[in-house]
Amino acid sequence: MCGIVGYVGAKNAVPFLLQGLSKLEYRGYDSAGIAVRTNDSIEIIKKRGSIQNIKDIIGARELNSRIGIGHTRWATHGNPTDENSHPHVSSCGRIAVVHNGIIENYIELKEKLTELDIKFNSETDSEVVAQYIGYLYKTNKNIFECILETVKVLQGSFALCIICQDCPEKLIVVKKDSPLIIGVSEGENYVASDVPALLSYTNKVCRLPEKSVAIVTADEFKLYDFDKNVIEKKLDLVNWSVDSAEKSGYEHFMMKEIMEQATAVKSTISPRINLDLNNNLVKLDNITFSEEYLKNLEKICIVACGSAYHVGCVAKYFIEEILRIPVEIDLASEFRYRNPIVKNSLVVVISQSGETADSLAALREAKKLGARVISIVNVFGSSIATESDDVLYTYAGPEIAVATTKAYSTQLVSAYLLTLKLCELLQKRTLNYDKIMQDIKKLPEKIEKILENKNSIHDIAKKYYNYEKVFFIGRNIDYAVCMEGSLKLKEISYVHSEAYAAGELKHGTISLIDDNTLVIALATQTKLVDKMISNVREVRARGARVLFVASENCQEKLHEVAEDVIVIPEISDLLSASLSVIPLQFFAYYIALYRGCNIDKPKNLAKSVTVE
Ligand code: G6P
Repeated sequence: MCGIVGYVGAKNAVPFLLQGLSKLEYRGYDSAGIAVRTNDSIEIIKKRGSIQNIKDIIGARELNSRIGIGHTRWATHGNPTDENSHPHVSSCGRIAVVHNGIIENYIELKEKLTELDIKFNSETDSEVVAQYIGYLYKTNKNIFECILETVKVLQGSFALCIICQDCPEKLIVVKKDSPLIIGVSEGENYVASDVPALLSYTNKVCRLPEKSVAIVTADEFKLYDFDKNVIEKKLDLVNWSVDSAEKSGYEHFMMKEIMEQATAVKSTISPRINLDLNNNLVKLDNITFSEEYLKNLEKICIVACGSAYHVGCVAKYFIEEILRIPVEIDLASEFRYRNPIVKNSLVVVISQSGETADSLAALREAKKLGARVISIVNVFGSSIATESDDVLYTYAGPEIAVATTKAYSTQLVSAYLLTLKLCELLQKRTLNYDKIMQDIKKLPEKIEKILENKNSIHDIAKKYYNYEKVFFIGRNIDYAVCMEGSLKLKEISYVHSEAYAAGELKHGTISLIDDNTLVIALATQTKLVDKMISNVREVRARGARVLFVASENCQEKLHEVAEDVIVIPEISDLLSASLSVIPLQFFAYYIALYRGCNIDKPKNLAKSVTVE
């Protein structure tokens, strides 16, 4: 979704603003713009479409300024037009603002300002911020005070980065419910809504605390709460390398990230379990559970969105089988509106970005209802990580492609580890526990084997890329993986697909199966293979072509009923999702490639969804 950058320092701001925005392109956007302060005025260059349009306008001009802000907009209020693009400027022309989030009371504020004869130039909610500050600035030339007064009337979520023509050395930034980071360097400071924009410039960052305002100059920054009280600054060192957010020779980030999964899974499990020794205990960072808490634990609630929700769907099978504790799984956008019962429950929020608005709202709801919340998050210091009682970080490194792959895989192993830790503490370790633990240690090597085999999946995808109707079917954990496989395909190739519990097809959906349908059937659950074969016979009898994804130990007999079979290495049934998802990621990737889709930036989608 929308991205923010800002610069103040000794150099020209423009190159950073443009490069920083390019690094945020992956979040999804439909227009872009920058504002820089020149000696005479604030110059705004903004345009619908890609950042290249801004670069073309600047062209060979020597646009030079020591201070500036930039934005990529993902339209919410008003179409993606030049006028609706950010930055927005106050009527006096002296204040420019970029905004991420949603101003919920913008209509009321717009009406009030319009009555005061202020003319609006866009349909956006964001413009009211610039106009409101500008209105106050007419009578109070202290820009910081005008901003503080403005944020008090704003409702909703906002990350703001503001420049004022009369303050050549100050960027003012505000954070409420939408992330913002200050990147600290010698003689210059940066602002961004997301770390990848900063990686080439600095690894020293301050993530703005909730409801804070900062005055950023070239040499320092000062942090305040909304009541102007000084807040202590906390600097973090980002340990993501510059290369980790580059394509490193791959055509797409998605392929790079698929190929990084063995390493990412190893990085996530290795600090927590001993990979070499025969030691089967889990070290779960600093997360502890009192005896009293464990005695009363009755339920686990998993809350997430998108692919992270699909991780929860797999985890439900895993946790219930191993712990014999009931698991409820909710889409975050539904959880908070259904008056959830969380008494004696552990709430687990899963999120790659740690900023998904619905997941954050669900977390807050769970805490308000008195639940303990553990989050599984990839981005260090993100809002969900900060607001949870405990956080289990995934070590996937930055994920840039909109369609998540390595984040899914690392979230899944984190859920396994959390379960095994609870199993140990609840003294529910059985023989199965040791086998699972041993198999978790083997996951990176088995994932690697599948990655090496990607060309065979490429060849299979070539046969099927023209199909417009795809069903993913499976039972048990395989069904949960089907949901992710189907989402991947839809997200990046725009092929309509559905994930169905294999046994449920005949209760209606089978009417859609014909000889234009591809059915991708999963068979990794030993005890369910025969049932899957029966279901596949049903769809074949109605003309569908069938591709099986099956474990080595399940593959026998499948060749007779399917056109193609992709075989994955043998592993405990309960862990099979970590392997079976990978051919589905490759499949979606190659289908999208054959169909000429924009794989890393699928239409209408955003990487990090920071609005509800
Ligand atoms: C967006 C992304 C999905 C992601 C979902 C949840 O919709 O396109 O890939 O699964 O958000 O994101 P999160 O950062 O909370 O895991």
